[in-house]
Amino acid sequence: MIILERLLKTKKPSPRIPIWFMRQAGRFLPEYRELRRKHPSFLDFCQNPKDASEATLQPLRRFDLDAAIIFSDILVIPSALGQKVEFLTGEGPKLTPITSEQELSALNFDQFEKRLQATPEAISLTRQALPKEKALIGFAGAPWTVACYMIQGGGSKNFDEARLIIAKDPVFFDKLMMMLVEATALYLIAQAKAGADVLKLFDSWAGLCPAWLTDRALIKPVKQIIERVREDCPQIPILYFPRGSGEKVLSLGRSVKADGVALDHFIDPFFVRDTYYTHGAPLALQGGLDPLVMAAGGALLEKEVYRYLEAFKGLPYIFNLGHGMIPSMPIDHVTRTISYVRTWEKENLRIAM
Ligand code: CP3
Repeated sequence: MIILERLLKTKKPSPRIPIWFMRQAGRFLPEYRELRRKHPSFLDFCQNPKDASEATLQPLRRFDLDAAIIFSDILVIPSALGQKVEFLTGEGPKLTPITSEQELSALNFDQFEKRLQATPEAISLTRQALPKEKALIGFAGAPWTVACYMIQGGGSKNFDEARLIIAKDPVFFDKLMMMLVEATALYLIAQAKAGADVLKLFDSWAGLCPAWLTDRALIKPVKQIIERVREDCPQIPILYFPRGSGEKVLSLGRSVKADGVALDHFIDPFFVRDTYYTHGAPLALQGGLDPLVMAAGGALLEKEVYRYLEAFKGLPYIFNLGHGMIPSMPIDHVTRTISYVRTWEKENLRIAM
């Protein structure tokens, strides 16, 4: 049995701590940069099953990781629904903004499956190539985060324009969320059926969701997606990453009925541990290490790795970063991080068990 999958299903710690890193397939790897050069358009790269699968496998050839995450992006869903999405080098994503019910009516599911079929194809290729003890993670952006980009038309520090439109036109927003719930569930089910062992929903901008909107924009849509996926694929574990949600992270994970939550590097791991039992249902935990601490290296890196491992000792914990790998990440810091985890678990878990 795959250890990451088992940990998420049983919510019990394992003697080998599963390790993977957000954006482990990325620009910090020279072999990724070379493959990236073949595709002038980032979306075309995501749309090429063979190369997407190759990018997914690259980090596992270099590092002793327990999971691969399928190479794709959170903005493939708006593109598949018919919104114009471009990735401009150095400028971030650019989308033709959707700001009203009328503009929303231009989007539809006519080409949806066809436009997204590269991901399930890449998953099936990757699953065949991946050693059987390694997990393959499928993913999608969560509706709130994807909606922020769709309405704003690109990245933003605070998504104020998008949030003003949402406050002014609740009918439009709720319709957009309904469409994204349907699209995201279909996309995740296709990934599960193609061979993904675990699914993850990335809510990168959960921290920008105001309190009055939390139920409508985070909890309800993510819970609906998870319910829909479980109707078709009852076995598959699902992780939720409400980045920036602070002390609400555990209650959000439990409200949406996820199997696990990913932690960013702003929530203190000891706070999470101390409040873990006060919230009810068991929940797996993942992540937390500051990517910049990993990039800086030195004594602080070792100290921080051990701090996360100590905080979550005895709990179902998956080692990961608090956000994606940065392009300037030194490769040997990744290797060192993994060896700190392996050394710690040998000294603290295997002997005791
Ligand atoms: O672990 C994972 O791979 C997670 C999946 C994921 C990706 N992007 C894959 C990816 C997630 C959650 C994202 C989020 C994302 N993508 C955001 C939200 C903010 C955040 O960081 O969470 C945004 C704005 C994007 C859009 C995006 N993705 C841009 C502008 C680019 C650069 C385009 C280019 O030409 O290279 C990407 C690239 C991207 N997304 C990579 C991966 C693995 C490629 C490599 C890298 O960034 O190192």
